[in-house]
Amino acid sequence: MWDVIVLGAGAAGLMCAIEAGRRGRRVLVLDHAKAPGEKIRISGGGRCNFTNLQIAPERFLSQNPRFALSALRRYTQRDFIARMDRAGIAWHEKTLGQLFCDGSARQVVDMLLRDLAEAGGELRLGVSVKAVRPGYEVETDQGVLKAASVVVATGGKSIPKMGATGMGYQIAEAFDLPIIEPRPGLVPLTFTDAQLDGMKALAGVSVQARVGVKGAKIAFEEGMLFTHRGLSGPSILQISSYWREGQEITVDLAMGRDLGAEAQAARAERGARELANALDLPDKLARAITERAGLSGKLATQSKAALHSLSDATHRWHLTPAGTEGWRTAEVTLGGVDTTALDARTMQARAVPGLYFIGEVVDVTGWLGGYNFQWAWSSGWAAGQAV
Ligand code: FDA
Repeated sequence: MWDVIVLGAGAAGLMCAIEAGRRGRRVLVLDHAKAPGEKIRISGGGRCNFTNLQIAPERFLSQNPRFALSALRRYTQRDFIARMDRAGIAWHEKTLGQLFCDGSARQVVDMLLRDLAEAGGELRLGVSVKAVRPGYEVETDQGVLKAASVVVATGGKSIPKMGATGMGYQIAEAFDLPIIEPRPGLVPLTFTDAQLDGMKALAGVSVQARVGVKGAKIAFEEGMLFTHRGLSGPSILQISSYWREGQEITVDLAMGRDLGAEAQAARAERGARELANALDLPDKLARAITERAGLSGKLATQSKAALHSLSDATHRWHLTPAGTEGWRTAEVTLGGVDTTALDARTMQARAVPGLYFIGEVVDVTGWLGGYNFQWAWSSGWAAGQAV
């Protein structure tokens, strides 16, 4: 009989097990993967964007955005940074408060495994969890294990190839806990063949863009990448979490500038040049924009109205994505175990004493940029103090 069985050796599960072990609990962590913390290892291009200096509740999506506050305040980004410093792991800020390891994400996994061993926690890999029954009995492919408390840290549905199963939702449902329908988040947007025809020449081009979605009072000013399937890059991944099927997105391809005014001003100096060549934009992009605005010929021959439509085509590009790349490439899962069913301080299911949910399986999803790991650390820490 274990005091605590943690299901999932990801960021949230390892953090919870370490904290519970430090409190003297007999803790077992189960994972069906061959190695623990695989998403940590591949995150941030192998450097793990482990937190963000600008953690704030409005940077998390949830039916109840205030739910995350308690855990985020009790175990902050500064607490995790101090942990990294104590472990001697060098880090740097890349941009927008995003903190990355100088070396390798592997260092973060190693730190957590060292801490787990020191705290007396046991880790068993290659064990697949099939169900959890009251009592608690954890049914695995290698028999039944018993525990006083069970912490579900099995993550979301994103990237099934990496071991995502959706098991956490099945466990929640078995205990009659409500689920907010899971959806892919931080995911590239796709377009119809007809729409892609107009973008094909742009595949590989990246620009700084402001991307918003109709209906959401939010826009992101970050890099955007044209791909063979549609649009990607940080600004698109960010807006994808707010986008719903059928909604239009608005893209400003030259944010902070006034391309119409710039073109008018340039008429005197560069009037003899082709319009597309006279614009201070990547070549392929300038061509695509002028084509979309239905303009051609020399800059000097363009009317005021033509330059106005050029400005519109650049700063207010409206388009309706056909869909997303889905679970295959989504970095996170939106939705999950409804926070109304959980205690914000402990992550325990209010109606099921001894059953806890932490990390991505909960309906709390962060922006791109280290927010999701901070939620995993904070919620894992909070449950670790209570189990
Ligand atoms: P996580 O998914 O990490 O762990 C769940 C564990 O449960 C897995 O080890 C899985 O094998 C196990 N499991 C599932 N079902 C099971 C079953 N039935 N039986 C046994 N075990 C089971 N975030 C961020 O803040 N900064 C970043 O740089 C990145 N980068 C990034 C890159 C990529 C490619 C992806 C896909 C995601 C990111 N993220 C990120 C998001 C981040 O990785 C994610 O939010 C956290 O890993 C979630 O941690 P959890 O512990 O909740 O789940």
